[in-house]
Amino acid sequence: MERPKCFSFSLKPTILLLLSFAFSSSIFILYSSYIWVLIDNPSIAQETHLQFNTSLLNPGCRPIKFNGLMPFSRNLTGSKVNKSFLLDSHFRESHGSTGNPVISVIERVENKENEFTVTNGRKSDHLHQKTEVSDGGRIEVKRKECDVSNGKWVFDENYPLYSNRSCSFIDEGFNCEANGRLDRDYMKWRWQPHNCNIPRFDAVKMMELIRGKRLVFVGDSINRNQWESMLCLLKPAVTDPKRVYEIHGRHISKEKEFSFRFVDYKCTVEFYVTHFLVHEGKARVGRKWIQTLRIDTIDRSSSRWRGADILVFNTAHWWNHYKTKAGVNYYQEGDKVHHYLDASTAFRRAMKTWASWVDRHINPSKTQVFFRSSVPSHFRGGQWNSGGHCGEAIRPLNDTSHVNHPEKNRIVEEILQNMKTPVILLNVTRLSEYRIDGHPSVYGRKSANVNPSRGQDCSHWCLPGVPDSWNELLYFYLQSRQKGNSPE
Ligand SMILES: *[C@@H]1O[C@H](CO)[C@@H](O)[C@H](O)[C@H]1NC(C)=O
Ligand SMILES: *[C@@H]1O[C@H](CO)[C@@H](O)[C@H](O)[C@H]1NC(C)=O
Ligand SMILES: *[C@@H]1O[C@H](CO)[C@@H](O)[C@H](O)[C@H]1NC(C)=O
Ligand SMILES: *[C@@H]1O[C@H](CO)[C@@H](O)[C@H](O)[C@H]1NC(C)=O
Ligand SMILES: *[C@@H]1O[C@H](CO)[C@@H](O)[C@H](O)[C@H]1NC(C)=O
Ligand SMILES: *[C@@H]1O[C@H](CO)[C@@H](O)[C@H](O)[C@H]1NC(C)=O
Repeated sequence: MERPKCFSFSLKPTILLLLSFAFSSSIFILYSSYIWVLIDNPSIAQETHLQFNTSLLNPGCRPIKFNGLMPFSRNLTGSKVNKSFLLDSHFRESHGSTGNPVISVIERVENKENEFTVTNGRKSDHLHQKTEVSDGGRIEVKRKECDVSNGKWVFDENYPLYSNRSCSFIDEGFNCEANGRLDRDYMKWRWQPHNCNIPRFDAVKMMELIRGKRLVFVGDSINRNQWESMLCLLKPAVTDPKRVYEIHGRHISKEKEFSFRFVDYKCTVEFYVTHFLVHEGKARVGRKWIQTLRIDTIDRSSSRWRGADILVFNTAHWWNHYKTKAGVNYYQEGDKVHHYLDASTAFRRAMKTWASWVDRHINPSKTQVFFRSSVPSHFRGGQWNSGGHCGEAIRPLNDTSHVNHPEKNRIVEEILQNMKTPVILLNVTRLSEYRIDGHPSVYGRKSANVNPSRGQDCSHWCLPGVPDSWNELLYFYLQSRQKGNSPE
């Protein structure tokens, strides 16, 4: 009776050779498909350096998932960054139909100097890469995401993407042209990242991306600014204006919430106002009821954001001394109203409250979450309440290098990194920093010329204008994600 054959260390050299051949080709195949997924998956994070070793082929590997803050670009050049981190993630299968395999790999990602360049010529992607298979059977790859936040404004006569005449959704505060602003150059700047291109916003394609879905903006009036921009950008996709309406019949104002239905695409584009994302309430201190901010409790309207398919959050402007009673008897946690808390600490705690709400209530396979970074005000010679102005500016700034990275953004970045749910940061701080010319200034009211002595608005943005670019970034991320999920 012959004993069943099994692998042992006394194999003949030829078998050994065959085995090692099979082994190395399977590494190669695995590696190639992995690269393919990398290239096609936009949500993959950061600049990564992949190090494959034999443990990759072991059965029972933990699946890993890439939580990206940055999208993946098709025009990439490797660079040398020293970063070492573990990715714990896995690639999700796209919504059913495509039949992409779920690829699970466990990998340590760390920095090594290596070359990896991917170039993109529409549809015919080429992958040029230099890989090294070193002694330990390691294959090393390096790649770099497209940093869309790093770029410059380019004057472009093909902008704006809509006009105040084609879009009836612009409310008075942002409708600079209707309020008498005559210069028009501020509408014609296009954001151009240094290392890649953002596609021009295409209303029909965007509609297809959100068909049957709820696109929901949650935040302060700057998010309302962005939401109105989105409505205007989408308008050209609708031929019959009656087939877009606010479901409660509301007119856009500073009211609490709005939901516009685009009948032809069975989708809604919604806005919920919440200045802080957390709950503005009242508490009893001594014998008096006072206004407080419950930094440990999410805003009440959260039950209505919950089922959204795409969520775009922001909060920033209201975290200042004027709006928060200088932090005195304002911030509340549980039953305790803090006698004093500084705005940064309160902001961090509120962001944590928001983050745990997202982690608890958002299903990342259904909902994509964005957080828009803060955008600057441009008051000169004073503040919003002390005669600050920006009305003289009709060109973007040439240089913003003196501007510091805002602390609120640092806090947001830190919070996002520690979340379970992948959240994409719409990093628009820097690009908006240049745009001192984009604010309503005196043209935030119809009566602009009647009463010019009233304060200027150097916080919000004219429409058409800068928020259109933020939405082009949003469009870019949604599109890249979709591309990444479906084979071409
Ligand atoms: C493969 O990677 C694992 C985890 O990083 C490590 O423990 C193991 O020693 C590596 N094996 C080789 C052959 O490099
Ligand atoms: C990269 O980081 C490691 C430790 O994290 C350090 O030892 C090494 O010198 C760094 N290399 C470069 C090029 O900065
Ligand atoms: C946002 O963009 C600015 C400018 O490119 C950059 O300095 C900053 O690090 C970015 N933040 C994140 C979290 O990527
Ligand atoms: C659009 O702006 C023009 C000025 O360029 C103004 O005459 C017109 O009333 C505005 N239209 C709307 C609908 O606001
Ligand atoms: C990649 O982008 C840079 C900057 O936009 C450009 O100069 C370069 O030619 C592009 N490379 C390819 C191969 O498209
Ligand atoms: C920026 O530079 C251009 C040309 O260098 C100049 O014409 C323009 O006035 C400058 N803008 C500002 C706001 O300084």
